[in-house]
Amino acid sequence: MAWKVGAAMAVLLGMVGVGVGVGGGPDPRRAGWRETYRPPAEIPFPPENPYTAAKAELGRRLFFDPILSGDGARACATCHIPDLAWGDGRARAATRMQGDMDLRTPTLINVAWQDGPLGWDGKFRTLESVAAMPIAAPANMNLPIPDALARLAADKSYRAAFADAFNDPAITRERLDAALATFQRLIVTGSTPFDRWIAGDEGAIGEPAKRGFDLFNGRAGCAGCHSGWSFTDNSFHDIGVGTGADIGRGRFMPTSVALQYAFKTPTLREIGQRGPYMHDGSVPTLEAVIDLYDRGGIARPSRSRAIKPLNLTRTERADLLAFLATLSAGGSRDLVTASFTAAAPAP
Ligand code: HEC
Ligand code: HEC
Repeated sequence: MAWKVGAAMAVLLGMVGVGVGVGGGPDPRRAGWRETYRPPAEIPFPPENPYTAAKAELGRRLFFDPILSGDGARACATCHIPDLAWGDGRARAATRMQGDMDLRTPTLINVAWQDGPLGWDGKFRTLESVAAMPIAAPANMNLPIPDALARLAADKSYRAAFADAFNDPAITRERLDAALATFQRLIVTGSTPFDRWIAGDEGAIGEPAKRGFDLFNGRAGCAGCHSGWSFTDNSFHDIGVGTGADIGRGRFMPTSVALQYAFKTPTLREIGQRGPYMHDGSVPTLEAVIDLYDRGGIARPSRSRAIKPLNLTRTERADLLAFLATLSAGGSRDLVTASFTAAAPAP
């Protein structure tokens, strides 16, 4: 059985740090691929909601304040928990009634770079348009927006903070949305071993991770969707995982075959800290995610043509996992960083 020998060879070669691709050594395309992961210099802010420090500070306060829930028990940070990479570590988000929602809480890391619609199925057109939904949803924060605005207006320090942020004391839904979005755009990934390697530090990641990088960009085809510095194309695909009643983007695009069961490509930043995985939390571990891609998921008309059985060797699976492990900052869990400067809106 020739394939068995091949796998054993691959393991051996892996141990001495030689590439397992045909011919061995790094993929000749590696340097070019590395260029595509250079970090951006600035956080993008939309011209209609430019960055100001006062707005961001107001947004930060609102994000962590349970004043925005009916019974004062929940804030945005109840589910988007900084210490859990801005998710909640659950398969699916918790309702107020001790049940589960249908969807897993996504991380907010690098949300400023999501230039397409937000939400697993793209139900939110812009970042500004998201907040009102969790605030008002009866199963979530359960506070009608007019009540939220009235509460804030009754609080002297919030009146002062809105006046500071908007040069005017009125507290409106648009301003609430704008402040929360401004704060969320400051949630950016910390510096990871991967970023240090991209910046030129050859010793920042090991040989298995470098081989995993070659696979990710080469034969395994992961970078076709998890592309660029944020590891997402901000688009929607069926990778052959969802089986429930939720057909994702297909709900809005019923005539597109490719968008049935299509969900948004998530960032892979801090991925090791963010299980269980997928829109419905149905895949418990990263090993199981690699299994899924190795098998190629459920074959059906909507499944992306980029998804097919990969027949990875044991070393290749380990290399992919080693690569994914380099995408976490480790240590400091405070991923709100001031190392970016806010982009000035285009004149
Ligand atoms: C009960 C937990 C919970 C609370 C509380 C919560 N969220 Fe979420 N959040 C979720 C879930 C679940 C989703 C996915 C929703 C979807 O895709 O339809 C989500 C999606 C988002 C997204 C879209 C992210 C993306 O990558 O597409 C943003 C932004 C967001 N929430 C911000 C907030 C803000 C701001 C608040 C407070 C006003 C908040 N959330 C409160 C669970 C929560
Ligand atoms: C056709 C586009 C596409 C390709 C190719 C692809 N992915 Fe994905 N990936 C997605 C989408 C879409 C999701 C979310 C699916 C869902 O939630 O139902 C996802 C989810 C994931 C997750 C879970 C993220 C989370 O937060 O839950 C990981 C990890 C992952 N992919 C890694 C990989 C690796 C490794 C490869 C290559 C072997 C790969 N992906 C190839 C589109 C793709």
